Amino acid sequence: MKLITLFLISTFTGLSLFFYQQKPLKQSLIDGKEIYTDFCMQCHMTNGEGVPGAFPPLANSDYLEDVDKTIHALKFGLKGPITVNGKPYDSVMVSQGLDDEEIADVMNYILRNWGNSTDEIITEERISTIQK
Ligand code: HEC
Repeated sequence: MKLITLFLISTFTGLSLFFYQQKPLKQSLIDGKEIYTDFCMQCHMTNGEGVPGAFPPLANSDYLEDVDKTIHALKFGLKGPITVNGKPYDSVMVSQGLDDEEIADVMNYILRNWGNSTDEIITEERISTIQK
C-alpha cells in the first residue's frame, strides 16, 4: 500500500511538473493575439499587412523564416536596412518591453496567421536563450 501511494504521488508530481513547464499552444495563441493587438497592430496593421514604405509586413513575411533573428528583433529592437519580401526598409523598431513569455506568445501567433505557418512551438525557454 505504501509503495502504491508513493508511486501515485511521484507520478502526479512528475505529470504536473511536465504540464506546468509549458503553456499549452492554445492559450499561447489567445494571449499572443491580445499582445499583438496591444503592442504591434498600430504599426503592422490588423492583418499584418504593414504600411508600404514605412512598416514592413508580417503577413507572408520571409523575414520570419529566421526565427532566432525575429526573436532578437522583438527582444532588443531592430534598426537599419532590412529586406522583407524583396522590399527595402530602413527604419527603427524599438523593443516593446515584452517579457520572454509574451514574446513567445506573440511569436506563436504571428507564425500561424496571415499566410505564415509552422509546426514549431516557440517556448519561453527558447526566447531566454537569445542573447544580444
Ligand atoms: C512603432 C511601430 C512598430 C511597432 C509598435 C512594432 N513594430 Fe515591428 N517593425 C517596425 C519597423 C519600422 C520595422 C522595420 C525596422 C527596420 O527597418 O530595421 C519593424 C520590423 C519588424 C519585424 C521584421 C520585419 C518583418 O516585417 O517581418 C518583425 C517580425 C516585427 N517588426 C514584429 C513586430 C511585433 C511582433 C510587434 C509587437 C510586439 C511589433 N513589431 C511592433 C515598427 C513597429
